[in-house]
Amino acid sequence: MSLEKFIFTNNQVISFSSFWEAPSNIALIKYWGKKGNQIPSNPSISFLLSKCFTRTKITFSPINSKKDNWFTFKLDGNIKPDFNKKIEIFLERILPYVPSLKKQNLIIDSSNSFPHSSGIASSASSMAAMALCITDWEKQINPKMTEERFKIKASFLARLGSGSASRSIYGPIASWGKTSHIEKSSDKYAIPFTQKVHKIFHDFCNTIILIDDNKKEISSTEGHRLMNDHPFAQKRFDQANQNFFEIKNSFETGDIEKFIEIVESEALTLHGLMMTSSPPYKLFKPETIEIIELIKNYRMSSKSTVCFTLDAGPNIHLLYPKDSKRDILDFIENELIKIYPNLKFIHDQVGNGPKKI
Ligand code: DP6
Repeated sequence: MSLEKFIFTNNQVISFSSFWEAPSNIALIKYWGKKGNQIPSNPSISFLLSKCFTRTKITFSPINSKKDNWFTFKLDGNIKPDFNKKIEIFLERILPYVPSLKKQNLIIDSSNSFPHSSGIASSASSMAAMALCITDWEKQINPKMTEERFKIKASFLARLGSGSASRSIYGPIASWGKTSHIEKSSDKYAIPFTQKVHKIFHDFCNTIILIDDNKKEISSTEGHRLMNDHPFAQKRFDQANQNFFEIKNSFETGDIEKFIEIVESEALTLHGLMMTSSPPYKLFKPETIEIIELIKNYRMSSKSTVCFTLDAGPNIHLLYPKDSKRDILDFIENELIKIYPNLKFIHDQVGNGPKKI
C-alpha cells in the first residue's frame, strides 16, 4: 500500500473523545535495527499480552487561539511535562498522515496497569493506545473507514511512535515487517498472524520476573541506532528472517522444542548484539544469567516446556502453555523465591487485542 493511501486529507475539526486500552506485547523474533522513518531491518513476531496494558483517553477539541497548547499529557491524572518531548515527536511524525490534527487540541490522559518504574517498557502499549484514539477520531470524520482499515491505520500510526507498538494492535500473535514467508506482510504496519496455530500455543502464559526496576541506561532507540554500523548486522538480519520462517513452521506443526530453541536464541542474540555494539553495553544483571540457568535446569529435570525470552532489559519473560501453570508457580515458589526472595512477578497471558472502553 503506497504512503499516499495513509494520508487523511479532510480538514474537519471536531469535539470528540476516545478511550482505548492497548496491551503490551512480547517479541519472539526481535525487531533490532531500523532504517529511515521507523522501517524495520527484519521481520518480527510477538505474542500480545493482556494484563500489562495502557489505558488512554484523548479528548479532542478545536484549537481556538494561537496561545492554546497543542496537547497536554497526563499520567494517572497528573500533568507530566517529562513526557512531552516523546509525545511531540510522535505527533509530529504522524502529522503528515493526519494533517488536521494540528487544528485540534488534545488532552491525553493515560495510565498503565503496571508501575511505570517496573522496568517494563510502556512505549508499545502507550503508543498503540494513543494511535487507536487518533484513528478513532479520524473514523468520526470518515465513518466509511472499515474495521480492517481502522486497524491498519492504527498500527501504521503506532509504528511511527515506537516500532514494537505496531504489533500491539493485534492478538494473539502479530507480525511486523516485510517477509516472503507471510503474504500481505508490510514494513509500514503489523498484521495479525492468520496461519494455522497448533493448539499447544493457544492460551500461552507469560510470567515476567522483575529483576531490576531501574530505568535502563541505553534506550531501545539508541540500541537500534547502534545496529547501523554493527559488524554483525547483515548476518543478524538474515538469521532473523530464517528464525521467522522456522517459528512460523513450529506454530503450524506444534513443534515446541524448535519454538523453545528459537525463542531463547533470539533473546540471547539480542543481548549479544548489544554487547558487540560500538560502544558495547549490557543490560542484563548477574541474576538474569543465574535465573536463566535455573530455568534450563528445571526444564531438563522436569521435562517442562517452559522457555524464557528477554526484552531490552534485565527482566525475564517466562513463556509456557497454560496447562503447566501450576508447575511453573511451584518452580517459582520452591526454587526462585527461595534463592531470590526480593523478586517480583507479573503473571500475564496471551490476549486477543486492544479494547475500546
Ligand atoms: C527489544 O519498539 O522500543 O523490544 O521503535 O525505537 O521505539 P523504537 O524501539 P522499540 O524496540 C523494541 C525492541 C525489542 C524487540 C521487539 O519488541 O521486537
